[in-house]
Amino acid sequence: MGKKVTVVGAGFYGSTTAQRLAEYDIFETVVLTDIIDGKPAGLALDINQSRSIEGFETKVVGVSTGPNGEGYEAIEGSDVVVVTAGLPRKPGMSRMDLLEVNAKIVRQVAENIAKYAPNAVVIVVSNPVDEMTALAQLATQFPKNRVFGQAGVLDTARFTNFIAEELNVPVKSVKALTLGSHGDTMVPVPSRCTVDGKPLSELLPAEKIEELVVRTRNGGAEVVALLKTGSAYYAPSAAAARMAKAVAEDSGEVVPVCAWVDGEYGISGVYLGVEAELGATGIRKVVEDKLTDSELAGLKEAAEAVRAKQADVADL
Ligand SMILES: NC(=O)c1ccc[n+]([C@@H]2O[C@H](COP(=O)([O-])OP(=O)(O)OC[C@H]3O[C@@H](n4cnc5c(N)ncnc54)[C@H](O)[C@@H]3O)[C@@H](O)[C@H]2O)c1
Repeated sequence: MGKKVTVVGAGFYGSTTAQRLAEYDIFETVVLTDIIDGKPAGLALDINQSRSIEGFETKVVGVSTGPNGEGYEAIEGSDVVVVTAGLPRKPGMSRMDLLEVNAKIVRQVAENIAKYAPNAVVIVVSNPVDEMTALAQLATQFPKNRVFGQAGVLDTARFTNFIAEELNVPVKSVKALTLGSHGDTMVPVPSRCTVDGKPLSELLPAEKIEELVVRTRNGGAEVVALLKTGSAYYAPSAAAARMAKAVAEDSGEVVPVCAWVDGEYGISGVYLGVEAELGATGIRKVVEDKLTDSELAGLKEAAEAVRAKQADVADL
């Protein structure tokens, strides 16, 4: 049987993720769901009508779901479910301002995933993503390796883009890495940033690197401020779709994701942005690599910052 992936939430993030997943042409079916009547079906119809132009056979199915889980039968047998349901930020809002409202949504979605797609790998993107990932794991009761969040692939891609633009080099010559949480305690890892194999620190002065780090940390807010309504979705959907592809293809790719950390880096019991190997079982393993003392201190600080908030989501 061909692979099946579901995207919950047919807003900007969800619809562009569904489009990217369909265009990969590796899935038999992409299911797109939302609580809005007709919208997912309309988007699915539209994407399917692009198949002969873009040259893919994957079929997209759009389903509207009800308050008591009506419609969720459509996700049965999904290998991967990407959760994008929830409100995005408005200008001036922090991701944390979304905590309570999105917690209600993500809990309801997660309970239905547990019921209708009990073997799926779940990738959470709804914000605040570190907390929503912890909540989705609690509400599904899935093993922790089967629930993880998207942040690091996006933050790393933003950082990579800024470095490439600053040095006027192709993005593919840049290797960058960000760990930590998706927010104020994002931890860029300069010791792992190179351009054509040369350390970034030899190519740019420390102040310039710090400027790019700050811009990366505020990367989402910069887009939100320009759009005025809604938040970024092209780069975010590229990140989530790539992660779903890695799972579907059991690729073993190592990417930064929001994963359950259990002893790595001396940190335990928290969902945190670390590098992990992705495969059909979700997180095959968290990959611990060398960090400088200050990078490690930053990661530990990020862990403590998200730990308390993640404990709170149990009551939301
Ligand atoms: N992790 C990241 O890196 C990252 C990046 C960008 C955006 N986000 C987050 O992704 C989420 C979605 O962003 P967006 O731009 O698509 O927003 P959007 O407003 O365009 O879409 C959200 C969709 O979720 C739907 N929805 C609400 N409750 C639902 C439910 N119970 N079941 C199914 N669908 C439901 C809404 O009807 C809406 O269509 C936001 O929380 C945003 O903050 C995360």
